[in-house]
Amino acid sequence: MKSKKVFFENLFLLNNFFIRKFKKNYSNFIKNGNYILSDFVSKFEKDFAQYNNSQFCVGVGNGLDALTISLNSLNLSKNSEVIVAANSYVACIISIINANLKPVLVEPNIHTYNIDTSLIEKKITKQTKAILAVNLYGKPCDLIAINKICKKYNLYLIEDCAQSHGASINGKMTGTFGDLGCFSFYPTKNLGSLGDAGAITCNNKNLYSKLVKMRNYGSKIKYVNEILGVNSRLDEFHAAFLIIKLKYLNKINNHKRKLANIYNKYLKNDFIKPLQQEGIRDVYHIYNIRHPKRDKLIKFLLEKNITTQIHYPKPPYKQPGLKNFFNSSFPISDVIHKTTLSLPISFIHTEKDIWRVTETINSYK
Ligand SMILES: Cc1ncc(COP(=O)(O)O)c(C=O)c1O
Repeated sequence: MKSKKVFFENLFLLNNFFIRKFKKNYSNFIKNGNYILSDFVSKFEKDFAQYNNSQFCVGVGNGLDALTISLNSLNLSKNSEVIVAANSYVACIISIINANLKPVLVEPNIHTYNIDTSLIEKKITKQTKAILAVNLYGKPCDLIAINKICKKYNLYLIEDCAQSHGASINGKMTGTFGDLGCFSFYPTKNLGSLGDAGAITCNNKNLYSKLVKMRNYGSKIKYVNEILGVNSRLDEFHAAFLIIKLKYLNKINNHKRKLANIYNKYLKNDFIKPLQQEGIRDVYHIYNIRHPKRDKLIKFLLEKNITTQIHYPKPPYKQPGLKNFFNSSFPISDVIHKTTLSLPISFIHTEKDIWRVTETINSYK
């Protein structure tokens, strides 16, 4: 007989608890008839800025738009170069291309999976104007070192925090190290909504005023379009839900960290586990291990009723839609993509679930 299924994630079960708490806000949202850019969006923006210890927050339609609008807000000349880790999620690369800029890929560090800061300076040219630091899997990049490089070369620093809500370095939140912090509230994220949603944090009043207009047809006053903008507004519906869920974000992150601790301590060292670093608060959006026989391990776990995922099976520079933009090889990134495996680690998993996964993986030969 097969033992109880441990699924990778179950969004209905995950959100059930928050949906019960959401009922009052939902009913007010339906009844008040203000469905676009109204009180719930303003309240969430205020709450999220406060949570991150950031001065401003602008709600947008999704994480990709947060990145694209941020890049567009900097007024960089066409084909300016933006440095980004080669193993980043495809949205990071697409945002740079869609902003008419050039992504310059840098290998990740094989231990942190984030951009290898020791390789950045070699890639800086006269055309380099920004670094997009992606805090992958919920681990902050070495943002202190990246910030120093940005100051030295006069580059903008944009953080992709789609996977790092609530992660910090020495108590300072990701999303506040650079000029702009870009967040996704895609349902699977640590702070996930019930559909697509996103936000940008910043501490610069001029950039903030620009972002507010850019997400809304370049307009702050109805029918006055001061700049060229897009339609990428955070929906009132999502804001009303996120206001509730944000109150539990620390609880969600603490729970994930507790589960990660079981894996960290008790998974055999045959499996490469995420690095733990002093002063760095990882929020384990993803808990990944690496193993040379990853694909066999997936099958083995599936037979034992445990589902896993891969983040990501193919790097952006090998994706059919993007590969023409790149002509270099990235062997470290390739190794990560071939060996990485994401284990179950969500708010609704119990310690018992994680023990079962741990013991099952440890029995893999
Ligand atoms: C690192 C990273 N950047 C950007 C995005 C894009 O966010 P969205 O799917 O909300 O557009 C995601 C999420 O999917 C992500 O994981």
